[in-house]
Amino acid sequence: MELYEIISERRSVRKYDLSKQIPEEVLKRVLDATRLAPSAVNFQPWHFIVVKDPVVKEKLKDAYPRDWFWTAPIIVVGCVDTKTSWKRKDGADFADIDLAIAMDHLILAATGEGLGTCWVGSFDVLKIKDIFKLPEHIKPVVMTPLGYPADKAAIKTRKKMEDIIHIDKF
Ligand SMILES: Cc1cc2nc3c(=O)[nH]c(=O)nc-3n(C[C@H](O)[C@H](O)[C@H](O)COP(=O)(O)O)c2cc1C
Repeated sequence: MELYEIISERRSVRKYDLSKQIPEEVLKRVLDATRLAPSAVNFQPWHFIVVKDPVVKEKLKDAYPRDWFWTAPIIVVGCVDTKTSWKRKDGADFADIDLAIAMDHLILAATGEGLGTCWVGSFDVLKIKDIFKLPEHIKPVVMTPLGYPADKAAIKTRKKMEDIIHIDKF
């Protein structure tokens, strides 16, 4: 798929075909695209926990108890490392921005491979930290299922160009 097609084809997928596993080489391509994302000062302050084991998935369910989420064969937990992220002079921490870009690489690469994803932020961070025994400076920010969609979600509306694009003035 060509880039603009991938961008317009992407949807938040909330129903997965659990009978279809993701080939290792496909997963590897998607994770490699994730790794290639830009980051502030190239610090790459990110970690991605790829959850495949049903036992581990079962433990995680409590942190995001929505049935649809667990219908995917793989869950990726995107974490930032606040020890190594770049901090601007005014104190702004760029960790979440860097991770968001990498996750968008993951999401678009997955779409290009025919896979579905759904950015989920409303999970219980403390439970995830506890399950993976994450150190203080490693913060889970996003989780996404990764799997073949069971159906095609409708496209959501977006704000109009003229309402958000400002040429030469705000
Ligand atoms: C930062 C962020 C957090 C989100 N958190 C959740 C979430 O917790 N649960 C959920 O079902 N979807 C979540 N979403 C998905 C959005 O609901 C979805 O992207 C939006 O409705 C547009 O739909 P689309 O992705 O299908 O275009 C999140 C998306 C983003 C970017």
